[in-house]
Parts: sequence; C-alpha cells; structure tokens
Amino acid sequence: MYITDDIRYIGVNDHKIDLFEGQYVVPDGMAYNSYVILDYKVAVMDTVDRNFTHEWLDKLAKVLGDRKPDYLVVHHMEPDHSANILNFMKLYPEAEIVSSAAAFRVMNNYFGTDFADRRVVVGEGDTLPLGRHVLQFITAPMVHWPEVIMSYEKTDKVLFSADGFGKFGALDAYDDDWACEARRYYFGIVGKFGDKVQALLKKAAGLDIRTICPLHGPILKENLGYYLDLYNTWSAYEPETDGVAIFYTSVYGHTKEAAEKLVPLLKAEGCPKIAITDLARDDMAEAVEDAFRYSKIVLATTTYNGGIFPFMQTFIEELKERNYQKRTIGLIENGSWAPQAAKIMKNMLEGGKDLTFAENTVRILGALNDASNAALKGLAQELCAEYEKPGAEELAKQDPKAMFKIGYGLYVVTTNDGKKDNGCIVNTVVQLTSTPNRVAVCINKQNYTHHIVEQTGILNLNVLSVEAPFSVFQEYGFVSGRAVDKFAGKTLERSGNGLLYLDKYINAYLSLKVEEHTDMGTHGLFICSVTESKVVSSAETMTYSYYQSNVKPRPPKAGEGEAKKKGWVCTVCGYVYEGEELPPDFICPLCKHGAADFEKLQ
Ligand code: FEO
Repeated sequence: MYITDDIRYIGVNDHKIDLFEGQYVVPDGMAYNSYVILDYKVAVMDTVDRNFTHEWLDKLAKVLGDRKPDYLVVHHMEPDHSANILNFMKLYPEAEIVSSAAAFRVMNNYFGTDFADRRVVVGEGDTLPLGRHVLQFITAPMVHWPEVIMSYEKTDKVLFSADGFGKFGALDAYDDDWACEARRYYFGIVGKFGDKVQALLKKAAGLDIRTICPLHGPILKENLGYYLDLYNTWSAYEPETDGVAIFYTSVYGHTKEAAEKLVPLLKAEGCPKIAITDLARDDMAEAVEDAFRYSKIVLATTTYNGGIFPFMQTFIEELKERNYQKRTIGLIENGSWAPQAAKIMKNMLEGGKDLTFAENTVRILGALNDASNAALKGLAQELCAEYEKPGAEELAKQDPKAMFKIGYGLYVVTTNDGKKDNGCIVNTVVQLTSTPNRVAVCINKQNYTHHIVEQTGILNLNVLSVEAPFSVFQEYGFVSGRAVDKFAGKTLERSGNGLLYLDKYINAYLSLKVEEHTDMGTHGLFICSVTESKVVSSAETMTYSYYQSNVKPRPPKAGEGEAKKKGWVCTVCGYVYEGEELPPDFICPLCKHGAADFEKLQ
C-alpha cells in the first residue's frame, strides 16, 4: 500500500487475538502498522507483533526489492511493535537502529543487547536525513510508555504518531466510525496521561501535517482537524457529549430498575443524550470511555460486604486511575438495612479535580418505593436543570389518542405448562408474511402465558368473535393462570400440537410454533410459524373497538357505584385505582393495561 510515492505500508492484521494488551476485547481484530521510506537511504518504521514475523519480513522484502534497509526507526518499545527488532537486525546486519536513549535501555531488557555499535540515539528536534526526505524527531514520553518518540517527515508532511491516533480494529475490518473504537482505545490505554498528550499536541500545532501514520488503525489523510480536535478534547478531560451516562450494578434487579427508570425521567427533563451501562455485563473499557465522553454521570450500586458491589468498585478505580475530572456525578445507592454505597462512592471519587456531586442522592431500601421514586425524579430534575424541557410544540405533536386508532383483534392464547392448560387475552397479533406463513404475537411478560410460551415454544391462537361476552374476558384476562386453573371442569378439543382450543365464541384457531423471541422490555414478541389453522364459525372477529363499544360494561358515572370512589378507572376492564394521582408506570392488576388506558373518575 502506498502512503505517498516513497512511503509504503507493510503492517499486518491480527484476527486471532482475543484480548489486546491482555485485557481489551477487540472483536474486529487489531492492526500493527509498519512503514518503509524509500529514498537515498531506506528507513523502516517499527516492526510488528511476534506472531507475524514472517508475514512482515515478506512484505518488507517485497517493498525493498534488491535494496537493503539502512535504518530501523523504533518509535515505541511495547512488544506489539518491537518484537521483531532482533530478527530484523540479524537479517540486515548493515542496518542501524534509530531511537530514544530510554528505548535502548528497554531493548536491553527484551533482547539482552542495546545494540551499542549499531545505534543512533535521537532526542527532541534531532533530524535524520534520508535524501529527499528528512525525519524530525519529537519526544512523546508516556504516550504511552516513557521511551516513546514520534517522527515528522518534512517533505511529504507525514507524522509517524506511534500509539497516538491509534484505534482498535484490523485495517481490513469494516468500520465507518473511527471515533468509537479510537475513543475506547485512547481512554483505555493513554487516558491516564492527558497532560502528556496536551504537551504533544502543542508541539504538533507547529507542524504542517498532511498525513498521520499511527502504529494501530487507519492512516489518516483527510479532515485531520477532526481527529486533532477530538484528541484535544479527550486529553483535556473535557466532555465530548452533553448528556448523562448511567452506570449500574444490580443484584436482584431493583437497582437496575432504578437506573432504567431514570432514563425517561431524564428525557422528560430535556436531557439531550443518555447512555446506560450494566457494569457486570457490558464491556468495562466501553464504560470507561462513556464516563469520559459524557458531561454527567450517575453511579448506581448496592452496599455489599460493607463496601460496594465489586464491578462498581473496579469501575470507579478505573476512572480514578485515569484522573477522572470535570464532571457532575449523581449517586443512587441500594441497601436492605444499612445502605452506605453513596458515601463510599463519594469518598472514592472525592479529591478528583472539578468533580461536582448532585445534591439529590437516591436511597433505595431494597426495592423502589414512593420516596425513592420521588428522589429519582429530583435527581433527574437537578441533573437537567440547565436543559430546556421538551417544548409545548413537541408535546403537541404527540396525541396519545392516535394510538387508539390502530385496529386490533382480540384473542385467547391457549398454552399448557406441562401440568395444566392455561389461557390469556391478547390483542397484539398480526400476520407478518404468508410465504412463509409467519404470525407475530406480543405478550406482557408479567403474564404466566408469556413464561409458558417461552418455555414450550408452542401456543394456540383462538380468534374471538363478536359473540364473546364480557365473562370470557373476565375468565381469561382478569386472573392469573398461576393462581387458578382457567380450564377446570371444561371439556375441550385439542389441536395437533396437544393444546386446547375454545369450543365457542371464536371464529378460527391457529396453532403456532415459536421461531424467534425478542425481549421488548415490558413485553415479549414471539415470531411464529403456523402449524395448523381452522375456521370454525362465520361470525365477525371481535375487534378492540367493538369490545370497547359493545362488550365492556359502561364505566360508572358520577355518584354511581365505583364512581363514589376517588381515583382512576381502567377503560379496558373497569378496575378502579383509588388515589388522586395514578403513577405513570401503573399496570392494571386485572388486565395488565398501562396508565394510558385509565380515565380519572369524575
Ligand atoms: Fe501499541 Fe503501546 O503499544
């Protein structure tokens, strides 16, 4: 590969590596870059990892043709770049090594020689003329080891930037977003040394750079201001993205619930961007990257063995190690009897430069309750005080009643848990394709039926007709099959899959086999194939709107029955919630519809 007429690429792609530097996952592999400058003198820029000796030497030989290299320029002594120094020096006995004094000391450690009679020691500002091309050296200690140098080729205006501007990923892997993996690489590997990178950027500002050749990742030729600006932001520890990143650990799901509930609360307060990370399951390096990317973070964890949960402990240590600073931090703690996680997290981070802690700390005693929900709201309001709430104009665009205009049928899903038959009412069913015949069924995860379908992979869909009375909905929709046997005393036929189908109030049934399941948060979506189907009546299908107009009992009016109570009535099944305010996440205990389906009793 040509970088310029005289500068060639001879690096390699590593797709076998599992963990880069023994800790970073690299799903797209890793590139170890090396270059050759062909001039009156020939300079080779760095070697590659030990697993690619012959591939690299072959590439080098091909570029050299019948020439021999004069110099091996070593910018960095970490073995992913230096492993083949000795192999190179044996193969080309006329060549000399050009590097910093510190690098030769490290060479002695790795190879038992510092090449005393074949070396050229260079420091800040030194130059190495090659003919038409001249290399000028720039010291870059701690970007990422102390011996690091960079070099600037004055004629073609190329910066050989060592680990600087590197990223995870092999060069032959598809990648349309440099910043994502470059940011994870930067904060994982160089992030601790922001001041050193700042010093380097000041030196680079005086150079006319047209191309950046890093030791990892793509060669950068266009829009260099973009990369330099990002490096400036990262190394100055300035936030790159205005918004809130939430990091949580959760033992039994309650802290996770709080973290997840915070997301819509932040949105409602106008937060421009939100990220959420499960520290036990998501990539820790990605989490560290996000903590430095966002202007505000929220840490949510449990009190654990007198301290905090291990993944949060590790995460905070990772942040401190990299001089975490200039951010606002919100804290959520959970503890069943003596929560102290917030205090411990704050103590761990205190002393960090320009860290501000939110005044609203959320305390959860095991599970969320009214007090901790209110505290969550308070935290969201405090973190978003500077943002404009979604304006009236935006809200006016959202007419929730528009959702009611979508047409639905109503169905009884019949299943069997291995011991008994079960049934529940659903309305979210649609045929997706006819060839192959695929039907989607969405079921609330709180329903026992969801659990059975997930376990068994089969279900029958009974298509209710307009003949179905309200009692059918009470029977299958308002009680849980875990608590009662909905088919006790009934004698019904079974379809070929062994599941029951109703003998009346339906116009057809379909036997379904689950092909795919997608977790939709509150619901599970089952994509099913049809194994059997039969029309049993010519009656019209019961639609949701027909049910609302003709089947469901009329909600009580003021002064009548339930209406004497103060509260909210479920427009689907008539359940009455007593209380002035209906919680926005309230789910009807009978029919499992949400707060949007409730109306205030007048
Ligand atoms: Fe790519 Fe610091 O070695």
